[in-house]
Amino acid sequence: MIEKGDDYMHNFNASIDRRHTNSIKYEGMDFMYDTTDMMPFWIADMDLATPQPILDALRQRLEHPILGYTTWKNDAFYEPVKHWYKTRFNTRVINNDLMYSPTVLYTITEAIRALTREGEGVLVNIPSYNAFLTLIEANRRVVVPSPFVFDGDDYKMDFDAFESLCQRADMKVFLLCNPHNPTGKVFTAEELDEMVDICRAHDVFIIADEIHMDFVRNEQGHQSLINWMKPDSKILVTTCLGKTFNISGIPHAFYVTKNRFMKMELTRQMMAAGVGNPSVLALSAIEAGYMHGADWVDAVNDFILQNMRFVEAYVKTYLNDVLTVHVPDATFLLWIDFSKSGYSEDDVQHALQKVGKVALGIGSTYTVEDSTHFRLNVACDHARLEEGMKRIRTAFDWLKER
Ligand SMILES: Cc1ncc(COP(=O)(O)O)c(C=O)c1O
Repeated sequence: MIEKGDDYMHNFNASIDRRHTNSIKYEGMDFMYDTTDMMPFWIADMDLATPQPILDALRQRLEHPILGYTTWKNDAFYEPVKHWYKTRFNTRVINNDLMYSPTVLYTITEAIRALTREGEGVLVNIPSYNAFLTLIEANRRVVVPSPFVFDGDDYKMDFDAFESLCQRADMKVFLLCNPHNPTGKVFTAEELDEMVDICRAHDVFIIADEIHMDFVRNEQGHQSLINWMKPDSKILVTTCLGKTFNISGIPHAFYVTKNRFMKMELTRQMMAAGVGNPSVLALSAIEAGYMHGADWVDAVNDFILQNMRFVEAYVKTYLNDVLTVHVPDATFLLWIDFSKSGYSEDDVQHALQKVGKVALGIGSTYTVEDSTHFRLNVACDHARLEEGMKRIRTAFDWLKER
């Protein structure tokens, strides 16, 4: 376990035991796989320690013994967020457009409910972050898929097909994920231009989930849709620090929009649901992370890229006949293709779970059809990742020998 005062700043290869911390990744695995007897590489949190400035700020806040209702409508919230956007993305955010919210998925849910009626469609790229698909269906809306086309190097949108879908009278919302989970795609400024033009022309509201924005490693960097907002334009961006600093166990989020209807509706809805007050610990984490966490984020991205390159090399050496790995420009997730193996997803998942004893994101939960992929979370120490790769190899060796 972590000792108080340990500096995990750049020691990403420290092996941290997460047992007995109620971690979903470890202790909640049976929810997805009916067993906890596996090495987990599935859910998108990191096995890396949260950076020291945040841990220190949380400890310091707990020195004060009262943890009562808390307000976000002050500079302790606005200033760190504006600072981060300015210094990391050269993006200007103003207080009036910035609102706190309990979680990213809550924001998306309420935005969809405000913009659509039951039975109506919500447009999403496919593959899609699996919670988008379940959230749309749980709210009795319909998933309208806009499939990516993989050109061997990047996942591309078919903008003609996308525009046809936007022209439908019942099409009011496009739920964008940029950077994209699970593929790791980073949308270019040109792609965002085209997307925004099409949506504007056909009166489609863009809800942009940018939760993976701090893991963009290409030259262009993260292009936030905030830069495309005009007064009252139909765009909302939502994100949080959960992925960035591995603090998803402290629920919090925020959103940025210039759309008056959406500001009003989401504020009203948060009041109606009684969830308008932030977590006092989240506010301390936001301030510490956004004011003092930049170096750590740069270092963690270097580490993630090394891990991705390790997986790529491992697959080339041992699994090249069955797997294709594409190292993406963003996220800590690899979307690995097993189509050339010829095995079905059922066979592959059976071998991974029962023979390799390794839990990976199940591809078909990210699509509306069959899948030939699984998702591997590489944000862990090297020894653990190497053991995970050995287990994947064992699983495929077993399939080949069957
Ligand atoms: C794209 C995306 N959006 C949202 C979430 C969850 O965010 P929150 O916990 O704030 O609802 C995740 C978590 O994996 C994610 O990958």
